[in-house]
Amino acid sequence: MSIWTAEKIILLGFLLKGVCCRDFSISLPENIEALSGSCVIINCRFEIEDKYDGDLTDTATGLWLKDGTHGENNQVFNSRDPKPNHFSGKITGELHEKNCTTVFYNITSNHNGKYFFRIEGNGGLKWNYDEKSTSINVIDSPHKPTVQLYVEQKEVQDQEVLEVLEGSSVSLRCSAETLCSSPPPTLTWSSTPRIPLSESSRLQELISDLNFTATHRQHRVTFTCTITYQLQDKNKTAQNNITLHVQYAPKISPSSSCTRTDVPVCFCEADGNPSPELEWHLSGRPVTNSSNTFISEERLSSTGLRSSITLHQSLTHTSTLQCVSNNTHGTARKQLQLPLCHLQFAGKSLQAHHNIVSSKTVLYNA
Ligand SMILES: *[C@@H]1O[C@H](CO)[C@@H](O)[C@H](O)[C@H]1NC(C)=O
Ligand SMILES: *[C@@H]1O[C@H](CO)[C@@H](O)[C@H](O)[C@H]1NC(C)=O
Ligand SMILES: *[C@@H]1O[C@H](CO)[C@@H](O)[C@H](O)[C@H]1NC(C)=O
Ligand SMILES: *[C@@H]1O[C@H](CO)[C@@H](O)[C@H](O)[C@H]1NC(C)=O
Ligand SMILES: *[C@@H]1O[C@H](CO)[C@@H](O)[C@H](O)[C@H]1NC(C)=O
Ligand SMILES: *[C@@H]1O[C@H](CO)[C@@H](O)[C@H](O)[C@H]1NC(C)=O
Ligand SMILES: *[C@@H]1O[C@H](CO)[C@@H](O)[C@H](O)[C@H]1NC(C)=O
Repeated sequence: MSIWTAEKIILLGFLLKGVCCRDFSISLPENIEALSGSCVIINCRFEIEDKYDGDLTDTATGLWLKDGTHGENNQVFNSRDPKPNHFSGKITGELHEKNCTTVFYNITSNHNGKYFFRIEGNGGLKWNYDEKSTSINVIDSPHKPTVQLYVEQKEVQDQEVLEVLEGSSVSLRCSAETLCSSPPPTLTWSSTPRIPLSESSRLQELISDLNFTATHRQHRVTFTCTITYQLQDKNKTAQNNITLHVQYAPKISPSSSCTRTDVPVCFCEADGNPSPELEWHLSGRPVTNSSNTFISEERLSSTGLRSSITLHQSLTHTSTLQCVSNNTHGTARKQLQLPLCHLQFAGKSLQAHHNIVSSKTVLYNA
């Protein structure tokens, strides 16, 4: 006998073993959640003793028994002969291929319970699979989706305050387990305050990503992800949210400027996170708070600061004035146009005065 033939015999032996001695058995999920008003799918496969193989044809009947396998009142579904008190549903699997996958529609709290499958074929094939059951747990509202924050592709976890640096790439991922529903549930993003959002979804997995580059505009914005099940009479939703805190270098408001009443007053507004500091520089030198240069400061918000400086007349024509704001992320500067002191230019025409105002060089070198 060649090795080849020996192998064949061994292989044949294994095959025979596989075919012979099959027993009744079933594979079912232990627990399933179902949303009331929606549907539920029980994924199901069964096996029969091989002597009944011939009895399992495409006329076979699948039955479901609830909370017991004996009494007639345990029967809640019959694929061949539905009763008025039965649950509405359908065996979507091919029974003759031993697939007992079933869907029940219009789920109510009556569906809570333990389900046992029964197969009835031609001839002697009649079997209750009472060893294993599926428990259906009916819930009234869907579970909250999960929202995760990724910064530069890395997940940020377990932080009270979710801080990201301006300019970093942020990905907000919303995901949810899906319960049976037709149409399938959807995920949507929204924000408070409202800012434009462009999300990308991969519906099969029920994941929705919101990717963007962090800017100060997203500071303290709350992003909310909502899962929506469209049911017959109403929509059922659940949501989860995440609030971003963006850290950014100071920005000086373009409206910062000087005005002239009887004395020149300049103000500067800066915004940054952490809250910035503000300094005034006259001809490149930091200004201290004094009677000649009176400074007052005011916090506008957790990130905003406003400072104003009142200058003595004598300083206005000899100096350049700069507003300098810094925090741990950087520094911003803005040169302010000092209001001209008309006294210094007495005798010159108004026209000349304007020429000087519009020419910085002249002012700085004066
Ligand atoms: C059983 O039938 C269901 C519904 O038609 C199908 O989705 C599933 O893939 C089948 N399972 C197997 C193992 O063939
Ligand atoms: C579910 O119930 C509604 C009314 O309550 C009915 O119109 C609908 O046909 C039912 N759906 C199924 C699949 O039984
Ligand atoms: C969004 O970001 C995630 C993770 O950083 C990435 O896996 C995904 O492909 C991105 N989606 C798009 C549309 O760029
Ligand atoms: C359910 O939501 C869908 C899509 O968001 C909407 O078109 C529909 O009007 C809503 N139905 C009800 C009953 O609110
Ligand atoms: C965010 O979610 C929390 C907890 O679920 C909730 O209390 C809060 O109102 C939500 N905030 C917004 C803006 O939706
Ligand atoms: C400047 O000094 C005045 C009085 O001396 C004080 O009221 C004011 O708060 C000071 N400004 C700053 C920015 O410290
Ligand atoms: C801002 O700059 C000043 C002077 O350069 C420095 O002393 C101060 O620590 C800086 N503040 C911050 C928050 O970095």
